[in-house]
Amino acid sequence: MDLISIDSLSDDAIAAILDRGEHWFRENRERRPSELLNGKLLFSLFYENSTRTAMSFATAARRLGAADVFFPVEQSSIKKGETFEDTARTLNAMRPDVLVVRHRENGAPAQMAEMMDCPVINAGDGTNEHPTQALLDALALRLKLSRIEGFKVAICGDIRHSRVAHSNAKLLLRLGAEVRLAGPPSLIPEDGTALSVDEAIAGADVVMMLRVQRERLEDELGDAPGEYLRYYGLTPQRLASAAPNAVVMHPGPMNRGVEIADAVADDPERSLILLQVEAGVAVRMACLELLAGA
Ligand code: NCD
Repeated sequence: MDLISIDSLSDDAIAAILDRGEHWFRENRERRPSELLNGKLLFSLFYENSTRTAMSFATAARRLGAADVFFPVEQSSIKKGETFEDTARTLNAMRPDVLVVRHRENGAPAQMAEMMDCPVINAGDGTNEHPTQALLDALALRLKLSRIEGFKVAICGDIRHSRVAHSNAKLLLRLGAEVRLAGPPSLIPEDGTALSVDEAIAGADVVMMLRVQRERLEDELGDAPGEYLRYYGLTPQRLASAAPNAVVMHPGPMNRGVEIADAVADDPERSLILLQVEAGVAVRMACLELLAGA
């Protein structure tokens, strides 16, 4: 079994990952490691930069007793012109038990999965999907609000380039939430389903802000960060129009003062940003257990 997109997960698999994620969350809080994956080997192959995702897969592997090997693409033979296929065959010959891959091209992890004998986990492919991010966001919501069904979730910002938004929209709908997508006109889907940021946030129970992906944008936004915050960002004033106890999420890395104001990002009651990071280790432990467990 691979974990390439939210669509590739059955309802049972999603429920199992969230249940086991809750279990591992409690274990980690107590710093109680497990030996469940003793002797297993995790490979991480990151063609794009990462802080949270790479660190949390490595942490999850080690908390379960597995060994992890991080493959620094920048220093590898890939820079000498090796093809993606040859890299896959080379890594497969070392017999890892699970491979985590992040790639700038949509579909690369699925292609990798075709060539590997072990399970492959998509750690983010281009603008397509980032399924473990959506799963960790769902776990963070469950931990904080104890349910997801029936909640109104506003996902705001650079929807078009956001694999986080794409995976989250799919998963949240399956878990029974109402999903509202919003952002600047040039960064939202063109099918007419998106709202303005103010419309999306009004009465929302959850406000998830997205990073402006400068590396995937050609200059469409100009460079006036204060302007972005004023028109599309999450300020305390805008958050005041959400439901009374609305919570705030952001997958990180944040552009403070661009898509989110400091006062909102650092609000101890409403910001789930660090809970998301903590849930990330737990959910990745659950994914490794499901894919690489006995
Ligand atoms: C995101 C990513 O890389 O997809 N970060 C993450 O994994 N937490 C979001 C982003 O880059 O904006």
